[in-house]
Amino acid sequence: MIIQPRTRGFICLTAHPDGAAQHIKNQIEYVKSKGKIADGPKKVLVIGASTGFGIASRISAAFGSDAATIGVFFEKPATEGKLGTAGWYNTAAFEKEAQAAGLYAKSINGDAFSDEIKQQTIELIKKDLGQVDLVVYSLASPRRTHPKTGVQHASVLKPIEKPFTDKTVDFHTGVVSDITINPVELEDDINNTVAVMGGEDWKFWIEDLKAAGVLAEGVKTVAYSYIGPELTYPIYRNGTIGRAKDNLEATVPAINALLADINGVSYVSVNKALVTQSSSAIPVVPLYISLLYKVMKEKGIHEGTIEQMQRLFAERLYNNSDLQLDEKGRIRVDDLEMREDVQQEVAELWKKATTENLEEISDIQGYRNDFFQLFGFNFDEIDYEKDTNEVVPVPSIG
Ligand code: NAI
Ligand code: NA
Repeated sequence: MIIQPRTRGFICLTAHPDGAAQHIKNQIEYVKSKGKIADGPKKVLVIGASTGFGIASRISAAFGSDAATIGVFFEKPATEGKLGTAGWYNTAAFEKEAQAAGLYAKSINGDAFSDEIKQQTIELIKKDLGQVDLVVYSLASPRRTHPKTGVQHASVLKPIEKPFTDKTVDFHTGVVSDITINPVELEDDINNTVAVMGGEDWKFWIEDLKAAGVLAEGVKTVAYSYIGPELTYPIYRNGTIGRAKDNLEATVPAINALLADINGVSYVSVNKALVTQSSSAIPVVPLYISLLYKVMKEKGIHEGTIEQMQRLFAERLYNNSDLQLDEKGRIRVDDLEMREDVQQEVAELWKKATTENLEEISDIQGYRNDFFQLFGFNFDEIDYEKDTNEVVPVPSIG
């Protein structure tokens, strides 16, 4: 079929398999261009492996360190007449490239929050890899069915104490307007968001993997967090999602205790704000990202998800020398985003930003481009008028 982007708000309903494959190829090329990661991971489980930071982590491990990878995600397969989701096509392309490079790669498509998918993953590790030496936890989801209680938790993106009003942008039209987001009315909103995006499920994974004996001596595990600038604090770090991130970060000592007898260690890495399917859903943040991109590109310090994850692996997690952590024990690869000169310039642009000057003072074009590329669109190499086969299997799944 002819596959073109079709959007509804911050969601793109279509995805292009050849474009997704190009996106994966570009990321692989980048990782290869940086050379091998010294003493990198060899057997890696990535939970949330199909898009965003997760696929970039998987590519960094596989093509930066020749790692065997198992990826867990929740995507819609491609079938006759029905497009698969972007993460499905990403994975199809990743597995194909991995196979061609002689690298083990298998995937599991299902609800990572469930006990069943955890057990399925454990069986696969036992059968094919024996143990894993790195577990990346990169889930982002609007909801979670709790495996012990059966309760369905839905996360919300809200401030906590008072209404928050600031600028936001519709990145399709470039219209900048004020938005007011009312605070949570019920403590439940906070608890539900923590249940979905906090650290409990990460801990459940590590408990189950440990109990099954599939974690190698010296195993590492990493989950991703975000802090960002003060201007997004009310909606992000001091909002419901921030409470979930506090909870995720507070899970580190408990996981370290679980791993102590096998000399394992857990980390939270604070990553840079980037265009992903998850971040485009957060009000205010897309305007911040488009100003941030402008400033960071001008300074020559812009990074995308693949640059971030390659650097996390090569210069933090597997950097042999002392790992620099912040005062709360976190890895920081948002260091360039948070640089004072960067933040100062973004704050000045923020005050000025209007619909009229947006194209000029921000990198809204770059934002849009990244957004469409998440779904395999906007690649020069791809002919989008061409009839394309929508049925692309993930080799290990079908
Ligand atoms: P994403 O939306 O691109 O990736 C989410 C992944 O989780 C996908 O692989 C998806 O298939 C998987 N997933 C979702 N629900 C699932 C389920 N029930 N079962 C199995 N897999 C499921 O999101 P992104 O942005 O890469 O986020 C990953 C982590 O990075 C999150 O913790 C996020 O908060 C964090 N982060 C994101 C930043 C950003 O600017 N995008 C900045 C810093 C941290
Ligand atoms: Na991810």
